[in-house]
Amino acid sequence: MYQKYLRDKLEKLKLSGQYRNFTYLNRICGQYPLAQLRSEKNKSVVVWCSNDYLGMSENDTVLQEMHKAIDRYGAGSGGSRNISGSYEMYEHLESELAQWHKKEAALVFPTGFTSNDATIQCLLRLFPELVVISDELNHASIVNGIRATKNNREIFQHNDIEHLEQILKKYPYNRPKIIIFESVYSMDGDISPVEEIISLAKKYNSLTYLDEVHAVGIYGPEGAGIAAERNISEQIDIIQGTMAKSIGIIGGYIASSNEFIDSIRSFSTGFIFTTSLPPSVTAGCLASIRYIKENNYLREQLYLNTSRIRVLFKEKNIPLMAGSQTHILPVMIGNAQDCRNAAERLLQVHSIYIQPINYPSVPIGTERFRINVTPNHTLEQIEQLADAVQEVFQYLNIYPFINKTKK
Ligand SMILES: Cc1ncc(COP(=O)(O)O)c(C=O)c1O
Repeated sequence: MYQKYLRDKLEKLKLSGQYRNFTYLNRICGQYPLAQLRSEKNKSVVVWCSNDYLGMSENDTVLQEMHKAIDRYGAGSGGSRNISGSYEMYEHLESELAQWHKKEAALVFPTGFTSNDATIQCLLRLFPELVVISDELNHASIVNGIRATKNNREIFQHNDIEHLEQILKKYPYNRPKIIIFESVYSMDGDISPVEEIISLAKKYNSLTYLDEVHAVGIYGPEGAGIAAERNISEQIDIIQGTMAKSIGIIGGYIASSNEFIDSIRSFSTGFIFTTSLPPSVTAGCLASIRYIKENNYLREQLYLNTSRIRVLFKEKNIPLMAGSQTHILPVMIGNAQDCRNAAERLLQVHSIYIQPINYPSVPIGTERFRINVTPNHTLEQIEQLADAVQEVFQYLNIYPFINKTKK
């Protein structure tokens, strides 16, 4: 009975075109963005959809520090920090993160997902009267945290300041509130109006929680994120980030005041009852952040490659989504099956790997490609990408108006 129920559910998902198949590939250290397709005798493909935005997952300094930490401390941490003890590496990492975001303290979690989920759940339970006001496009980890609680919740239209203010106005000034939003939205590549949100929060006596997952490492002085770029880090109550994207490894964190950090550390079940990151991972993250802070060339090369793609796509009439202002370059396709077919042809004919983005990552009918360039991509690879996307869209008649003459 149970199996049949699940089979039917899966069948329905497959019929909708939204069933997710893994692409079986191995990235080979030292060759990123190249990877080998396991299914096809290790055929080499160019990866265009990784969140390893700066290629730090193969940075020599990072790898050396990770090897050293494994030799010194072994493979795993052995448990939660309360039970197994807290390696000195965690404190070094947390103080680096706190400094980066101009905060008093930071706390590290096993993933970015848990850092959002666990922190938000905990905060909402600590303040049962706290009204949570969340952008409609916030990530699933934020939504999960909110849904796990009974607090009053309000959703404001994406980046819509007027709607946000209408919601804030409904509540008395002294009613505790928190606005949760992201700086860079990863599916559209747009940036939120951070300053305006902060000033509304002040006007209506609200806390602010900013997810900088797709911005850290890339924007602002030393890559400290959008809040740092706008010089308003100190005005945000909690900044959250990940070490799995531009930092290139894994792990999440929050940075805030001593009181907030100590409260989450002390009351959050998602922090207390889980094994801490392996010391080698922690050492790698620390080395990666220090490298990213000091090496502006990574960011400059990323910006250059991003603008190269923008120019080439424009020449070929390949429409990037209008809202994208960042290194995230989404191309709307608008249909799960077309998206899948286009990805398949890119892989098979052009040796280019772009994962289709489907529901529930994006709403149905807005399926898309989300192209992520890195400093590692060469000009030749960028030109190949533009030619290949043009060919595939023409072949599948996805964008018939795409410039047919220029190749
Ligand atoms: C906005 C946002 N927040 C949080 C996360 C979770 O981060 P992690 O992949 O480190 O778990 C993601 C992951 O894609 C994300 O896009």
